[in-house]
Amino acid sequence: MARTEELDALLKEERVFRPPSRLVVGANVGPEEYAASLKVADDNPLVYWERAALELAWFKKWDTVLDETHAPFYRWFVGAQCNIVYNALDRHVDTAVKNKLALLWEGEPGDIRKFTYYELYREVNRFANAMRSLGVGKGDKVVIYMPSIPETVVSMLAAAKIGAVHTVVFGGFSAKALRSRIIDAKAKLVITVDGFYRNGRVMNLKTIVDEALIDCSAQCPDTVIVVRRAGIDVEMSEPRDLRYEDLVRQERPEALTEVMDANDPLFLLYSSGATGTPKGIVHSHGGYMVGVNRSLSWVFDIKPTDIFWCTADPGWVTGHSYLVYGPLLTGASIVMYEGHPLYPQADRLWDMVERHGVTTLYATPTLIRMLMRYGSRYPQRHDLHTLRLLGTVGEPISPEVWVWFHKHVGRGECPLLDTWWQTETGMFMIAPLPISLLKPGSVGRPLPGIEADVVDGKGNPVPPGKGGYLVIKKPWPGMLSGLLGDEDAYKDAYWTKIPGMYFAGDVARKDEDGFFWIQGRADDVLNIAGHRLGTAEFESALVAHKFADEAAVIGIPDAVKGEAAKAFIVPAAGWQDVFASREELIVTLKDHVRRELGPVASIKAVELVETLPRTRSGKILRRVLRAQELGQEVGDLSTLEENDPDRPLMPEE
Ligand code: PRX
Repeated sequence: MARTEELDALLKEERVFRPPSRLVVGANVGPEEYAASLKVADDNPLVYWERAALELAWFKKWDTVLDETHAPFYRWFVGAQCNIVYNALDRHVDTAVKNKLALLWEGEPGDIRKFTYYELYREVNRFANAMRSLGVGKGDKVVIYMPSIPETVVSMLAAAKIGAVHTVVFGGFSAKALRSRIIDAKAKLVITVDGFYRNGRVMNLKTIVDEALIDCSAQCPDTVIVVRRAGIDVEMSEPRDLRYEDLVRQERPEALTEVMDANDPLFLLYSSGATGTPKGIVHSHGGYMVGVNRSLSWVFDIKPTDIFWCTADPGWVTGHSYLVYGPLLTGASIVMYEGHPLYPQADRLWDMVERHGVTTLYATPTLIRMLMRYGSRYPQRHDLHTLRLLGTVGEPISPEVWVWFHKHVGRGECPLLDTWWQTETGMFMIAPLPISLLKPGSVGRPLPGIEADVVDGKGNPVPPGKGGYLVIKKPWPGMLSGLLGDEDAYKDAYWTKIPGMYFAGDVARKDEDGFFWIQGRADDVLNIAGHRLGTAEFESALVAHKFADEAAVIGIPDAVKGEAAKAFIVPAAGWQDVFASREELIVTLKDHVRRELGPVASIKAVELVETLPRTRSGKILRRVLRAQELGQEVGDLSTLEENDPDRPLMPEE
C-alpha cells in the first residue's frame, strides 16, 4: 500500500480499546494522578521535571532545573552532580533489590546466564577497574562493537561508571562504518567479541574490527578488548588486543563511581540524518536518567515483579534507554536474547516469554509483522498468561498488525503501548499509559511535560486530521545535548527549519481527540525495519563504485520491513564491456553497498536509468522518483509549495 493510502486507512481506524479495570486499579499512575500531573506539567513543566528528578539519587542537587541562556543548547539540572550508574546499580546494592534478578540472558543455542543486581554490580566494577588500569577515564570515548550479550551491558555501565563516553556501534554495520565512527569519536578503546550466534551460524565480529583498524595507527585506539563468546579462534594482535576475561579476573569487584556533572556526556550514538554521514548524537548523565526513569516507570508501569523484555539490540537507542538504563534505573529484571527471532523456529519468542515469565514485551512492528506471517498457531502453542503489557516502537504499526499482536499475544487483555520517540529525544515523548484509551495505529497523546504538536511549515498548528510536521515546543530532560563537534549541524537539523521548535523530521496528524498518528519521515531518511538510514549514505556508497556514475535512493513499501531501499542508478559508460548483463551489474552494486555499509543497509531493488530527475540547480528530485514508483501523480512541479505539509519535505528543492 502506498504511504498515503496507508495513512487514510489509519485515519479511518475507529476501533478503541479500553484498559482492563484490574490494570487501572493497580497502576502506578492512576487516572487522577495522571490528570493532576498533566496540569502541573502544563502550568509549570520545570516543577514537574524537578519532581521527577527527585526520585533519583544525586551527589549534589542542581542550582537551576533548566538553563535556556544558550538555547537551543539547553542544559538540564545545571550545577548538579550525579552518575547514572550510581542510580542504575550502586544504590540498589543497599536495598532489597540487591539480590534480585537484574539480567537474564539467553544465547541463541539456548545457553542461559543470570545476574542478580549484586552480581552485575561486581562484574561492572571489575571491568571499570580494568578500563581504569588501561588509562581510560573521564571523557574518553569507548566504542562497543558487540552483539546482544551480557558483556555489552557490562561494558556500557563500566564505561559510564568511570566517566567515559560509550558509543555502541550496531554489529550489522560494516568495517568501514565502524572505522568512521571510531575515528570521528576519537575512541581510546574498542570492545568487541570473538563471535556470536545468529540464525544457527557463528558470526565473527573480531575480524571486522581488525579490518576497521587497518592502517589507521595515528587515529586509532591503542587497545581492543575481546570478549570470548563463541569460543572461536581469532587473531590477537599484540600488544593491541587483550582478552576481557584476563583483564577482569585480576580486578577487585569494588570500584569508585566517577562524580559527573549532570551535563557531562554519557554516550554518543551515531544516527542518520537527511544529509551527509551519520552524526554523533550526544546524551548526558543527568537529564537523560531523569527522562528515561520517569518515562519507563510511567508508561510501562514498572512493578518490582516485572520481567521486562525489550527485544532491541543494544546498538540502537531503544537498547540504551529501555534495554539497559531504564529497566536498571527502575530496578526491573531484564530479559536479553542474543539470536534470531525465528531460530530454531517461529515460536522462539513465545517460548522465551513462557519459560521466563515475561510480563512486558517491547518490540518493533517489523518483528511483529515477521512473526505474524507464521500465523497465530505459534503463540497459541505457549502459555503467555504472564504478559501484562505490550509495546512497540520505531515505525508506524498498522491497525491490523496492532490487533493481531494484541489479540494473539496479549490475549486481548494486555494494553499495547505504541511509543513515539527518537535517538535524539532519548526517551518516550508521545505514548499512552496502561490506563489510557488506545486506538490501534496511534501513538496516543504526548506525555506530561512534553509539548508536541503538528504544524505547517511556518510553525502554525494545523487543524485536526490534517498532516503536518511533528514538532516539540519545549525542551525536555532526555533531549540530546548536541551533535558531536558540530554546533551548526545541530541547529540546522533540529532548530532552524521551524524557528523556536524542535523539528523531529516526521510527518504526523493529530485527530479530534488529540491522538497523534505518525505517518513517517518528512526528510530523506529511510526507516528500514525500524533502523534509520539516510538516502545520502546509500547514494555516496553507490557512487563510490566505478560503474555507478549517479545514484538516487528512495524508500518503497515493504510488507515485513515497513520500508526498503530502491536505487536508481546511472551506470558508467562501458559497463557492458565488463558485465555480461544488467542483472550482473545490479548484483555487483548491491553487494558493494552491503560491503560498504554493512548487512543492515541492504538495497532491495535497483533500476538502471539513463538520467535522474533534477532541479534546475542540479539536486536530485527523489520525490518524482517516489511518485513514479508508487504510481502517484507527480504533480505540477512548478507549483510545488515549499511548505505544503501534506507532502514530504524536500530539502533539495
Ligand atoms: O520516524 C520516526 C520513527 O523512528 C524515527 C526515530 O528513529 P530512531 O532515532 O532510530 O529511533 C527509533 C527508536 C526510538 C522517528 O523519527 N518512529 C519511532 N517511533 C515510532 C516511529 N514511527 C511511528 N511510530 C512510532 N511509535
